[in-house]
Amino acid sequence: EKGGYEHFMLKEIHEQAFTVRDCMRGRIYPNEGKIQLGGLKDFDEKLKTANRIIIIACGTSWHAGLVGEYLIEEYARIPVEVEYASEFRYRNPIISENDIVMAISQSGETADTLAALEIAKERGATIFGICNVAGSSITRFTDAGVYTHAGPEIGVASTKAFTAQVTVLTLIAFYIAQLKEKIKPDAMKVLLTELDSIPDLIKECLKTEEATKYIAQDIKDINNSLYLGRGIGFPIALEGALKLKEISYIHAEGYPAAEMKHGPIALIDEGFPVIVIATKSSSYEKVVSNIQEVKARKGKVIAIVTKGDVDVRKSADFVIEIPDADDTFLPLLATIPLQLLAYHVALLRGCNVDQPRNLAKSVTVE
Ligand code: M6R
Repeated sequence: EKGGYEHFMLKEIHEQAFTVRDCMRGRIYPNEGKIQLGGLKDFDEKLKTANRIIIIACGTSWHAGLVGEYLIEEYARIPVEVEYASEFRYRNPIISENDIVMAISQSGETADTLAALEIAKERGATIFGICNVAGSSITRFTDAGVYTHAGPEIGVASTKAFTAQVTVLTLIAFYIAQLKEKIKPDAMKVLLTELDSIPDLIKECLKTEEATKYIAQDIKDINNSLYLGRGIGFPIALEGALKLKEISYIHAEGYPAAEMKHGPIALIDEGFPVIVIATKSSSYEKVVSNIQEVKARKGKVIAIVTKGDVDVRKSADFVIEIPDADDTFLPLLATIPLQLLAYHVALLRGCNVDQPRNLAKSVTVE
């Protein structure tokens, strides 16, 4: 049942080229530059006129929500807020009938997320779900939704469910943009063609496993680490840090790279590991200078870079190359080596990768 892999988590990491493909199946038509989301089509008018989208979730699903914020604001031009379900529900939130509240949940059973939806519904919002488990409580409670179709996820640390959530959010961003005519048909063709190629690029990313094994040997005995990213790379830094902390019990903090100078830089001394998402993007130069700041304090830099990169290589201790792609799709690629790195570090530390201590797959307590 583990398909020849040592752990479910490793199997699920390796499945991602297929799960992302499954998630897009029947939904994107690159040649026509069209996108179709059956689950939302009765709500097209609502999506066109919504004032605001509020995304609620916990843990990894909340990180997917942050990616969604970036993509929906960028393409659909609707303001998005991303909330921890547990904070939202206890805060007397201001919600109107023109708001769409979207819950993201792999299990569809997370108690805080469900309770947050109940409040949103009571206050008249339209509520959507992005879930993996068919027929789960959240799917039954919501007005509409989009399934992630990642198949059962057994490893407690979420991997393929995350990339499927990000895929769905990418589809939703493009779908609303299509409805609101924010993306021209030709531009949509280009975007969907690139999205269609992402499963193949994920396969390329899986080839970083050897590099991550090698780096894991080097960092397996650390106690602390910092993950940095900017823009759409920031939620990826958060997710990479969460993976490491969940399964290897190493303290890992994700931070927006530019915030480093406002505090975390004080942590950096000789050998302090900093994992940086430093792929080619509009903020590349800035990230390169963040790396130099870490190196000036003798920290150890592990950088995720775009294939063929030369600048980062000059200063980083380790580089992990991923294929070039538009920033829009970075989360689907850069996440893969971070999952593999966490897995191999945890393995070397003799941790129970599939069932980390103190954690449950679905958190039904409040
Ligand atoms: O089932 P959900 O997506 O609602 O679960 C939310 C979190 O409990 C979950 O993502 C948790 O953070 C995972 N252990 C992350 O790997």
